[in-house]
Amino acid sequence: MTAHGDLTTRLSDRAKAILKANDRGGYTVPTSIGLYPAQWNWDSCLTALGFATFDEPRAWREIDSLFDHQWPSGMVPHIVFRDDDSSYFPNRSVWRAGKNGETSGITQNPVAAMAVRHLYDHAADRDLAHAMALRLAPKLVQWRLWFDRARDPRGVGLAAVLHPWENFDNSPVWDGPLAATPSGPDVQRLRKDLGFADATERPTARDYGRYIGLLLHYRDLGYAEGAMFDTAPFRVVDVGFNAMLHRSTEDLVHLLEAIGDSEAADGIRPLLHRSAAAFSRLYDPTDRFLYGYDDLTGARLRTPAVSGLLPILAFDDAAERFPGVIDHLEGWMNAAAFALPSFCPTHPDFDPKRYWRGPAWLVVNWLLAEGLRRNQRSDLAERIRQDSARLVERSGFYEYYNPLDGQGLGGPDFTWTASTYLLLEAA
Ligand code: DGY
Repeated sequence: MTAHGDLTTRLSDRAKAILKANDRGGYTVPTSIGLYPAQWNWDSCLTALGFATFDEPRAWREIDSLFDHQWPSGMVPHIVFRDDDSSYFPNRSVWRAGKNGETSGITQNPVAAMAVRHLYDHAADRDLAHAMALRLAPKLVQWRLWFDRARDPRGVGLAAVLHPWENFDNSPVWDGPLAATPSGPDVQRLRKDLGFADATERPTARDYGRYIGLLLHYRDLGYAEGAMFDTAPFRVVDVGFNAMLHRSTEDLVHLLEAIGDSEAADGIRPLLHRSAAAFSRLYDPTDRFLYGYDDLTGARLRTPAVSGLLPILAFDDAAERFPGVIDHLEGWMNAAAFALPSFCPTHPDFDPKRYWRGPAWLVVNWLLAEGLRRNQRSDLAERIRQDSARLVERSGFYEYYNPLDGQGLGGPDFTWTASTYLLLEAA
């Protein structure tokens, strides 16, 4: 074996060890250091894919355990609290949501159906895959219908997010809509995240107050979906969120067909056609980029964040539908030492260290690589894979990385980073 092959084997073993170490018995925490002492929705779905490279039953369990906490409405919450959550703020005593108060009261990037289809299509254990698909498909349908009802009640074809934590926490895309919300309480002294990660790598005090202000607004409404949508101080239609929703809807239709439930597939398919048509209104032909909008004011959010590149994940003709988008992606790649910054690296608001305002995230790299492959750009997908491996080789399995120098940021030994590494190396 070559020296590099050796290194890949060693890092893959390390990645598996991280997944096992962060396993709390049927679900994983994002990192063991206490920064996130609970189960996070999209972390778990993407972590299942890494588990599947060496333990398929455990992979299915990760998603199953998340859906055990699906709300009767169909919503799948963004956090499920289980054990001691005292190292996290806001923990369950603040959220007070879900059955027995064990969850948060908002949702998160809808990647579950995409993950389940991936597990199903790649499974060696076909009997298990079939049984799990039969079990999870109706739950995935319920979640998809919840988005339609609770987040797109006017039938536009695009779902709104009501809290930045439902998508890319402190993305510059939110700056305008978030600034228009009440300033919220001063929670700097209550924050626990700053005890685990440097303040320059985390959202600001101004943003955190508003995050908690929104939480309290929704809590006062008892998390009633209609009232939340109607009175939300923050309601944004985001490109990346809807790209993940569209892709997951497509994968759900595929899954339903695969398990022989054509009736359910036929019920979901119109949502796919509607969202495909609605995406055209997000494309800006002048900038050759996709932007979301503030659903309260109708204003286009002209902010070049990685969200605007994610439609390549949703459409296999993205280059024709949205000319220029893949060129932007390549341009960002050329402007940074490591793929891919979460925000345009030449924009004045680019911050290479602060969470979703510039750092590279391996999970996003995987989503983009998937999108590039489906758009016949395996050359760029391969560059992303190589850059992702270089990040891990340089710094270990961090939550996110400075795309200019590769420094690891946020939490160490991060579950979904380890999962993504396994996934990229297995592709
Ligand atoms: C956090 O606490 O930073 C999370 O991203 C919220 O879900």
